[in-house]
Amino acid sequence: MDELGFNKLFAGFLMAGLLLLAGIKLAEVMVPHSDLAENAYKIEVPETSAVADAAPVVKAPEPILAMLADADIAAGEKLSKKCTACHLFNAGGDAKVGPALWNIVNAAKGGSEGFGYSAALAGFGGAWDYASLNAFLAKPKAYMPGTKMNFVGLKKVTDRANMIAWLRQQADAPAALPSADEITAETAANGTDS
Ligand code: HEC
Repeated sequence: MDELGFNKLFAGFLMAGLLLLAGIKLAEVMVPHSDLAENAYKIEVPETSAVADAAPVVKAPEPILAMLADADIAAGEKLSKKCTACHLFNAGGDAKVGPALWNIVNAAKGGSEGFGYSAALAGFGGAWDYASLNAFLAKPKAYMPGTKMNFVGLKKVTDRANMIAWLRQQADAPAALPSADEITAETAANGTDS
């Protein structure tokens, strides 16, 4: 190839390169590249664990936090008769079919030393705050699939509020009643979930 031919070839490549660059620039101007704030197509990735995924979708029980302060504690004590076949509530009470329940509000779930819990309860985690007691007592096996507490649940929200208000008193020092903020948050969460 003579020198002229080589130059032409070189000029050809140069031109092609420039056109390519110009093309890329033009494309950028016409279709600006920016990061999307959100994926255009939402991919639902559940944040819950495999155990929670397996749980049936249960409607959250009606909120009770706002009811605790004015609950009927005597009625709660009467309701505890539904539990005493399996539980003792007194200080120093032993486990029966179920674990002892003195000091249960805010205690760790499955935390009664030496009691043979189901794997479901032993591995559940968290503490028995008012909201989780509400959910558990409404329908134990829906809230905690695999629990060995054979109890159908307290269907009526007033029964659960009375029961839990009485439970709260079966303690060395009753747990604080829910704050106004906690009550608002529970009501808000319930409004969107159910
Ligand atoms: C037929 C027996 C039975 C009845 C009735 C029963 N329970 Fe239970 N309860 C159990 C058993 C068994 C467990 C342990 C469950 C497990 O390990 O999954 C349990 C666990 C619990 C726990 C969790 C305790 C912990 O240490 O984490 C609470 C709270 C509780 N029961 C409250 C009640 C209340 C309140 C009532 C009455 C309204 C009631 N139970 C009625 C048998 C019963």
